[in-house]
Amino acid sequence: MLDKSSYRPHGLEPIETASRDEIAGVQTERLKWSLRHAYDNVPAYRKKFDEAGVHPDDFKRLEDLARFPFTSKQDLRDNYPFGMFAVPQEKIARIHASSGTTGKPTVVGYTLKDVDTWSQAMARSIRASGGRPGMKVHVSYGYGLFTGGLGAHYGAEKLGCTVIPVSGGMTERQVQLIADFRPEIIMVTPSYMLAILDEFRAKNIDPRDSSLEIGIFGAEPWTNSMRAEIEQAFDMDAVDIYGLSEVIGPGVANECVETKDGLHIWEDHFYPEVIDPVTGAVLPDGAPGELVFTSLSKEAMPVIRYRTRDLTKLMPGTARTMRRMEKITGRSDDMMIVRGVNVFPTQFEEQLLRCDGLSPHFFIELYREQRLDAVRLHVEARADHADDASRRAQAALLKAHIRNVVGIGVEVDVADPGGIERSMGKARRIVDKRPRD
Ligand code: DLL
Repeated sequence: MLDKSSYRPHGLEPIETASRDEIAGVQTERLKWSLRHAYDNVPAYRKKFDEAGVHPDDFKRLEDLARFPFTSKQDLRDNYPFGMFAVPQEKIARIHASSGTTGKPTVVGYTLKDVDTWSQAMARSIRASGGRPGMKVHVSYGYGLFTGGLGAHYGAEKLGCTVIPVSGGMTERQVQLIADFRPEIIMVTPSYMLAILDEFRAKNIDPRDSSLEIGIFGAEPWTNSMRAEIEQAFDMDAVDIYGLSEVIGPGVANECVETKDGLHIWEDHFYPEVIDPVTGAVLPDGAPGELVFTSLSKEAMPVIRYRTRDLTKLMPGTARTMRRMEKITGRSDDMMIVRGVNVFPTQFEEQLLRCDGLSPHFFIELYREQRLDAVRLHVEARADHADDASRRAQAALLKAHIRNVVGIGVEVDVADPGGIERSMGKARRIVDKRPRD
């Protein structure tokens, strides 16, 4: 692991340490351009702005952004597939899409310049994670319409790294390639990293002896407890990366390895706001709410005040001058209301990781019992705790932790070691078996 006392970031772009005034200046100029670009070239934005009685010329200072209407996933669906694009089709160099759980995929487009902006943001993210030119990067995010694989790939190349484009799946081969090619960096969802960890153990290879020094994990919520688990298992630094297709893909925000205290948002390209999800009011920095982004430089598909549904809060910069967002607690879509208490899967993850006899793999079953919502947490025993007595004891321990800390009663089902299905990409944490009514 990195020695933090002697660590000095190097190769930073000037904007990463610019003053807040300089950053605000860049944002203001770019916002003027982005609002105008969206209004002039995307009929859906023009209509929304007109209906809200605002015009790009009304934007003079950063606070004025609050007068503009929000954009949501529904707007992208209504304009499926290419209606939100602001440039002619022949200028679109790349298309990605995210599948979502229901209905049509969300389609996004990039000009060549956008691909370059994205690659820069990703290169910056990998550098913030401790990556350096010349390092080898094993990419296990999926390649294809998902932005994870190609986003990581272009960013690592841009930084001057050697890319190993493995994509997701074929876990045995992942371990073989890590052993043979000796990458310093791995980029993968945290849940799939756990599946890779299992495979190291199944092959009797000590993960702490592997060449991996840095893991850049994102695309799904994960906790600091999970960070500790992975860092300990691999003797590596585990760093959080955030992004979403609509805004550009991965590389919207990233933790700095020397502080690991939340994700610095690359505010020169993506302007963040946190709003009250019910009233839409902009909240002051430090207040928890829903994260909203406006793109500042994107050509093909500008997004204006895009509601992410991700819950976090904004905090001042530390390792960089750009603001940080707190590690995402969850999406508003994943919030469960159990007997009146609001709960996110990450809260169960934290408690699960306190139980030494249980592996970190889990999913949550929601069902209905006597007309009330109930939760069954599916977890699995570690190999050295697989006997009946240990399993009962571990289930009782986890139930007690959840009752005491989260404040709700749950059922716990402890499967055999390996009994919980492994994810190859984003883990599906909630299985909803409640009747539709
Ligand atoms: O997941 C982009 C990405 C790829 C990010 C690889 C990081 C690494 P989408 O498929 O559009 O894009 O899903 C975006 O995933 O709104 C969050 O709910 C969630 N998400 C992404 N990163 C994180 C993270 C990619 N670090 C949605 N922590 C977002 C928590 C995350 N949730």
